[in-house]
Amino acid sequence: MSSNVFRFLVSTLSFLSSFSGAVSQGTLHRRDYFYVGQTYAAQGNSSIAFGQIYVEHLTPEKITQPFPLLMIHGHGMTGTNFLNTPDGRPGWADYFTSKGYEVYIIDQPSRGRSAWQKDIDGVQSAFDTFTIESHFTATQLHNLWPQASLHTKWPGNGSVGDPVFDAFYASTMPSLDSDEETAMKIRAAGSKLLDRIGPVVLLTHSQSGQHGWVLGDARPSSIRAIVALEPIGPPFINAVFPPIAAARQFGLTDIAVSYSPPVTSPEDIARIAVSSSPTFTCFQQASPPRKLVNLAHIPVLIVTSESSYHSIYDGCTAEFLRQAGVSVKHVNLGDVGIHGNGHMMFMEKNGLQIAEEVVQRWISQTVHA
Ligand SMILES: *[C@@H]1O[C@H](CO)[C@@H](O)[C@H](O)[C@H]1NC(C)=O
Ligand SMILES: *[C@@H]1O[C@H](CO)[C@@H](O)[C@H](O)[C@H]1NC(C)=O
Repeated sequence: MSSNVFRFLVSTLSFLSSFSGAVSQGTLHRRDYFYVGQTYAAQGNSSIAFGQIYVEHLTPEKITQPFPLLMIHGHGMTGTNFLNTPDGRPGWADYFTSKGYEVYIIDQPSRGRSAWQKDIDGVQSAFDTFTIESHFTATQLHNLWPQASLHTKWPGNGSVGDPVFDAFYASTMPSLDSDEETAMKIRAAGSKLLDRIGPVVLLTHSQSGQHGWVLGDARPSSIRAIVALEPIGPPFINAVFPPIAAARQFGLTDIAVSYSPPVTSPEDIARIAVSSSPTFTCFQQASPPRKLVNLAHIPVLIVTSESSYHSIYDGCTAEFLRQAGVSVKHVNLGDVGIHGNGHMMFMEKNGLQIAEEVVQRWISQTVHA
């Protein structure tokens, strides 16, 4: 970037921050966006596009990392999750651009700035405020699972009426109800994105945990590592929140991924329950386990916060991947001295500490040019 443009950005940022406490002191970068993955569908005597995803691209003044970071948010969310935090502090996009990463942030298909076409795309629904409060932001007031009471790191009281909660809730969006439809759409558009920008380090959160396994399967040479923050799980069945229904028929995915030996239907994947309680049954593959062949060469970091419902079952998810031949490091934040976080860890009070001490540390040890 030319030094004149740079000076302009510096003076603009300091001007903005001088009159509004809500503007974060972020990292200087260039921002552009594009769309990828559209298909045209006939509409009357004309056509409309569907399936495309919005991609925001942040380029720091100096790129020093060998691969870009591609960030995919979870259910009910959009890419704003990784920009500034709801209380105006720098977010993970700022942190990773400050470390010299080129960063790509998408909005999932049919959500946010990625078009939802009412006659083509599936039914959507939104998280209500009670779900956000009780699962994410004020879990300690609701205690829906034993670790929920350990939550201390959300900024503000985490309930309706608190300005930080209200700002966060306002950023949530209706999402496709079907995780299977979402996975098909992300495989189509995400593969085209990876063909254009890869190889990358992929960062997923929650619902998009599945997208990491699906995209790693579809484009194994375009993903150098996967950081999965509390990826959707556990294998084959939902947990914690009743009704406990079957899910993810291919183990960690709703859609087929490549196993060796190959499977022709999900029933080919023999499973056994290795532990069971009324709200959580951990299934693994029966021996000998089939291997997730395309994920075998992609190192995975799973990060689990101390107070989230994921603290109950992410270990089972990690073990399922290991059994299938994937190299997984699983960090429980409480075990490394980082206490009180919940599911939205990256926007909590100590979010940048997690980025620095856990995620960036692992990437720098694991990913080499
Ligand atoms: C397309 O169909 C619309 C509605 O039937 C009609 O008004 C329009 O003239 C048509 N356009 C063309 C280019 O045929
Ligand atoms: C949270 O803070 C807001 C604003 O002060 C207040 O209206 C609300 O009652 C608080 N909620 C809880 C559960 O403390």
